[in-house]
Amino acid sequence: MDKIVVLDFGSQYAHLICRRIREQGVYAELVSYKIDADTLAGMSPKGIIFSGGPASVYEDGAPLCDRRILTLGIPILGICYGHQILVHMLGGVVKRAKREYGSAELIVDDGKDLFMGIKQRMRCWMSHGDAAESLPEGFSILAHTESSFAAAVADRARKVYGLQFHPEVAHTEHGSDILRNFAVRICNARQEWSMSNFIDNAVNDIRSKVKEGERVLAAVSGGIDSTVTALLVHRAVGDRLTCIFINHGLLREGEEDEVLDMFNTLGIKPIYIDASSRFLTRLKDVEDPEVKRLIIGEEFARVFDDAVKEHGPFHWLAQGTLYPDVIESGVSISREAATIKSHHNVAGLPKWLNLKVLEPLRQLYKDEVRQVARLLGVPEHMVKRHPFPGPGLAVRIIGKVTEEKLRICKRASRIVEEELARAGLYDKVWQAFAIVGDDRAVGVLGDGRVYGHIVSIRVVESVDAMTADWAKLPYELLARISNRITNEVEGVTWVTYAISSKPPATIEPQ
Ligand code: XMP
Repeated sequence: MDKIVVLDFGSQYAHLICRRIREQGVYAELVSYKIDADTLAGMSPKGIIFSGGPASVYEDGAPLCDRRILTLGIPILGICYGHQILVHMLGGVVKRAKREYGSAELIVDDGKDLFMGIKQRMRCWMSHGDAAESLPEGFSILAHTESSFAAAVADRARKVYGLQFHPEVAHTEHGSDILRNFAVRICNARQEWSMSNFIDNAVNDIRSKVKEGERVLAAVSGGIDSTVTALLVHRAVGDRLTCIFINHGLLREGEEDEVLDMFNTLGIKPIYIDASSRFLTRLKDVEDPEVKRLIIGEEFARVFDDAVKEHGPFHWLAQGTLYPDVIESGVSISREAATIKSHHNVAGLPKWLNLKVLEPLRQLYKDEVRQVARLLGVPEHMVKRHPFPGPGLAVRIIGKVTEEKLRICKRASRIVEEELARAGLYDKVWQAFAIVGDDRAVGVLGDGRVYGHIVSIRVVESVDAMTADWAKLPYELLARISNRITNEVEGVTWVTYAISSKPPATIEPQ
């Protein structure tokens, strides 16, 4: 498949560039800027994009690419810092300049190739402190803004293009058109990346790996990643796939039935293991949140191990690892740190299982997994279901996990979800649930005094769970949720709304 390779110089938008290119039907991959020219040429890209980044090209130790990449003859597009690298490495001068942050008017001076079919004046998104002072020989100006004489440049003979602004962000008008022009018009990449092609390729790939007579194991939770993984493997090897669904007793209300129904409709019958009592017994007197997480992880491994012994032998373990978890990192310390954490997950294969790993979603972003899910017939309400933490309701029950608090947490969370859905807001928020602890407050029920539980509602908006803000829900909706919870959930007298953003709070209370 034709592809564009994006070199990550540490920009928070590097993934976004990849996704925007893929949205144009062209496959794109992200690699570290440290890649050498031979390895990059070996990937046979139709085009190369240099991402932005936080550094300044003229500083000692600034991340630069292998110089030989500039002479591979493959078209290159530099964005922001990537543009400055091109200017700097090809003989121009980049200097600290008037800072330009936010929206600016871009005036196109040369509407051929990169700006083909795009209007002459448009808004673009700038975020830079450095700028080109003089351009390398052979470069001409394609567009300017009031503060940047070289907002877009090109050396068509060398097939090198540079943009001082960010075409990948939504605030840049026609940003996707510019990226499409680069990928399709300048690089001649074929638009072959579609989710139905992906399904065919993934299924063929699984078939070629899993030999006749070999069996595959998958743990499913009903979450979109493990569900799509199982469906792809099932399509490839049929009943040589065994799915295991472990109920740790900390699922949302009715979730076990919903998950089993869904798989039933999709033609897969997972082995259902109700291990609730094992988990709840081990959690009985545990208050510390980290200890709870540890116990749940440990017990999950034990239950899984028992199931493998009972239903094995297996040769492969299928996992729902996604693209952002597997790519090489760029330069920034936080990203390298984040990668260390996710590599921990990706390495994935629990050593005690000693199985080969199938990761059919390794190339995909979350929104692409959702598209695949729809194509494979996963019901819409499951595709759009909010993320749910692995340790389940244990992290939403503060203090000891008791039967009573579990009942309250499940019922109250269901009410929150129902009321949000009724108000048409469920799909607009990231997560919405109830939290219960040991705090109590006095209420009146009829003529009697009741000393009941306090339930907190947490509804947050987020794009990636890294940061989040509490949802500014209408008061009437909050009132309805509170009324229903105090009326319908026995033992609750008060309802509060959690209004801390992340940071400094986290989304889950534990
Ligand atoms: P926090 O609470 O750290 O959560 O702001 C960020 C996002 O991650 C989810 N989360 C988890 N997901 N296993 C998971 O699979 C976990 O142990 C876990 N802990 C938190 C949380 O729901 C939120 O979307």
